[in-house]
Amino acid sequence: MSSLTNKQILLGVTGGIAAYKSAELVRRLRERGASVRVVMTAAAREFMTPLTFQALSGHPVHTDLLDPAAEAAMGHIELARWADLVLIAPASANFIARLAEGRGDDLLSTLCLATRAPLALAPAMNQGMWDNAATRENLDRLRQRQILLLGPGEGSQACGETGPGRMLEPAALAEAAAAQFETGALAGRRVVITAGPTREAIDPVRYLSNHSSGKMGYALARAAMEAGASVTLISGPTALPAPERVNLIRVTSAEEMYRECLEHAPRCDLFIGAAAVADYRPRAYQSQKIKKGSDEQLTLELVKNPDIIAAVAGLDARPFTVGFAAESEQLEDYARRKLIQKNLNAIIANDISREGLGFNSDDNAVILIDARSAIPLGPQSKQQLARELIARLARSLHEPA
Ligand code: C5P
Repeated sequence: MSSLTNKQILLGVTGGIAAYKSAELVRRLRERGASVRVVMTAAAREFMTPLTFQALSGHPVHTDLLDPAAEAAMGHIELARWADLVLIAPASANFIARLAEGRGDDLLSTLCLATRAPLALAPAMNQGMWDNAATRENLDRLRQRQILLLGPGEGSQACGETGPGRMLEPAALAEAAAAQFETGALAGRRVVITAGPTREAIDPVRYLSNHSSGKMGYALARAAMEAGASVTLISGPTALPAPERVNLIRVTSAEEMYRECLEHAPRCDLFIGAAAVADYRPRAYQSQKIKKGSDEQLTLELVKNPDIIAAVAGLDARPFTVGFAAESEQLEDYARRKLIQKNLNAIIANDISREGLGFNSDDNAVILIDARSAIPLGPQSKQQLARELIARLARSLHEPA
């Protein structure tokens, strides 16, 4: 059974008798670890009550576009950003038509326009409506926009007819939703990722470090694992739980991270340096706690740490090497310089001056830079961004240098 751990699924319920099955779908998605938020159209509320979905999802159901209270709690743009996947089940013929036209005349259609997450539809309708030329044309348009169609199945219908148009069963839909995240783009590849800060010990109680949370590196490790890679995550001290199915190696200092990276990098295909490695460490570690003296000043002598990513990029059998550049000004310029200086294949440039993004936050916006291009990505959640970065880096791995 594929996992949906850490996945955020926005379930859109539109008007159709199959809406009763969506109640079970919420349970199936949550069983696999997803967190689910439900949006219902007005027609859906003729078939089921929001209370049912609220009880099953554990969250209030979203129904109106222009409801100030709901917008204050989690606005429609926030919801659109929150979703890792938007799953519309059941998707009625009417909703499919509105989606094909790109309408934004209620909350769910607006969300579908606003989101960057993949969209999947589980159509459910009478077989005559399914076969209608108008529905077929609408579906063709949606397929061209890479919208995923799940089903429908065939069989007896609530209207008494038999044929295509039945919504797929909740278990099959939950499986299809999980499969969405397992792309196989890095199947058979080995990936090494560094994450988090490093700590440079001064004495038994003190150290030098930085504010890196490790979130971006951990998100990349999860995304690479979902893409089928075998992943080693070499992490400085963070408060984050170990990602599932990832070989996590915990280190403290830059020197330890350096040793582990040089041990693992030569056998990997892709190396991503997301760690905020301390540039300097104290020249000498004091084995006894430094006592406060009478002097007003204390001088700490620092020496440079090894540049881990430059060392990896300098290996004879070097992996495809990707670094990060956290900058507060002249983002692309400085990042390009780093790309060349460190001999990297690509660099992910991060503007740390933007409020609510980057260091220690859940969202990020970056520019993915290589010798040929500079592609802005986000702002979006670090996990969604990580998936997009992994998909793009996986493609670059296949391209000739
Ligand atoms: O030189 P700067 O620290 O800005 O470069 C950032 C990139 O280099 C990141 O990918 C970081 O993980 C990596 N780095 C490293 N070893 C260091 C310093 C930075 O691998 N000592």
